[in-house]
Amino acid sequence: MTDLREFTFAETDLDAVAGAEGRVAVFIDSAGKLGRGARRLNRLTKGAVARAVADEGWAKKPAGSVVSLSYPSGMEAEAVDIVKLERRPDVADARKAGAAIAKTAGSRPVTVLGESQIGLEQAVLGLALRGYTFTDHKSDKGTALAPAHVFCSKPTEIEAAVAPMLAVAGGVFFTRDLVSEPANVLTTTEFAARLEGLRELGVEVEVIDEDRMEELGMGALLCVGQGSVSPSKLVIMRWKGGEGAPLALVGKGVVFDTGGISLKPAGGMEDMTMDMGGAGVVSGVMKALALRKAKANVTGLVGLVENMPSGNAVRPGDVVTSMKGDTIEVINTDAEGRLVLSDVLWYAQEFETPAAMVDLATLTGACIVALGHENAAVYSNDERFAAGFLKAAETEGEGAWRMPLGKAYDDMLKSPIADMKNVGGRPGGSITAAQFLKRFVKDEMPWIHLDIAGVASLKSESTFAPKGATGWGVMALDRLVREGFESKEG
Ligand code: BES
Ligand code: MN
Ligand code: ZN
Repeated sequence: MTDLREFTFAETDLDAVAGAEGRVAVFIDSAGKLGRGARRLNRLTKGAVARAVADEGWAKKPAGSVVSLSYPSGMEAEAVDIVKLERRPDVADARKAGAAIAKTAGSRPVTVLGESQIGLEQAVLGLALRGYTFTDHKSDKGTALAPAHVFCSKPTEIEAAVAPMLAVAGGVFFTRDLVSEPANVLTTTEFAARLEGLRELGVEVEVIDEDRMEELGMGALLCVGQGSVSPSKLVIMRWKGGEGAPLALVGKGVVFDTGGISLKPAGGMEDMTMDMGGAGVVSGVMKALALRKAKANVTGLVGLVENMPSGNAVRPGDVVTSMKGDTIEVINTDAEGRLVLSDVLWYAQEFETPAAMVDLATLTGACIVALGHENAAVYSNDERFAAGFLKAAETEGEGAWRMPLGKAYDDMLKSPIADMKNVGGRPGGSITAAQFLKRFVKDEMPWIHLDIAGVASLKSESTFAPKGATGWGVMALDRLVREGFESKEG
């Protein structure tokens, strides 16, 4: 488990800056104009700060670039990090600047001379998000993240503004931890146990076991897990902070995807520990909402299964019956995510009567072919709902791109012996998967499907995360809730 860095906020104390341990960060704009904080630091360092930004190269550097002065005279600190940031930055640049501080500092203590920097709270969020490492399974866990001390002109106001943002960052870290875990640790049982831990924060958690799912007729979900010794589970998390019908968030939680009898090739199969990424994001959003005590009703539902080959595994050609009653010919046991989601979506509509639904899944390799690692695929049956989500994602800097649906794609799912088959062939693979899910969404239900196969986990570091789990979607969905499902004042 990775904890967020601790933050303190106080009015600037020059003696404390001179005596600060670790690294001291300060923001300077393109013009190299020293603000109050930089001027004070410049005096302490006898002009070194001003000299560092005097050359013309400084003006051309992008936001978040860092120039470090090592072992500055006049200070105890091991370095002063001068971070490029305009006086009135946009949200993205302010976050980037904060992330740059975190990356430079590693686990060392950080003192930020924020003074009256506009967007300081966004920089703090960036600093928090980038301070993530997953060392649970290393013998040498490294040193714990030292706190960050933020000096600024209005500490109480900044602290209050930052609190709900750090709650969301806490949700992002929860998602990253879940996605980072190997499948022998994060079994379906362990996943459910960690979600039960959210009760501490006031989330209502219900775990539905295989016997009950059998009674409900969830043959599509159950067939995926039947080859595994880990029991399949449906976990429902209810955050009741508001009024009215909830928003339902549905997640694919395949703790490991071997492909089943339609076995995947060995190379890269280890990446399939992240195939519970959709469930991970749903869990992270629930944690974020609880931490910031959102005035909204949101229900998270995650289908937790393991897709393994065995003498008892589902076979290609088997026909299963979903909870909805529709029959499915399982052409390829590696197209398992849609089988899991079909029953969870149906359960959500039958038992939780949501106002709208969003599902998230690392659903198709075809999605990565289409959009790479920059954007998640967005499918929807509701223009306004889709537009609201796309806006929220853009505001949070999480890539999302609208994709089409249509009858011709749906027709690709026709089966000669059942109501549908579970794959539509190679062309448009992410679209036909979405089309499959749509068959389990009632006509009048506003719905968004997010294929996050390309964005849930990355092979190289990104602005706000080291390589590995990103937590993509937690911030966008938190904003969707804030803007569309939260009672404004209370
Ligand atoms: N979990 C995979 C999709 C995936 C691939 C996620 C790569 C992340 C990275 C999914 O269950 C799967 O195997 N999909 C198949 C579907 C096909 C058999 C129709 C695929 O994309 O190849
Ligand atoms: Mn698969
Ligand atoms: Zn999968």
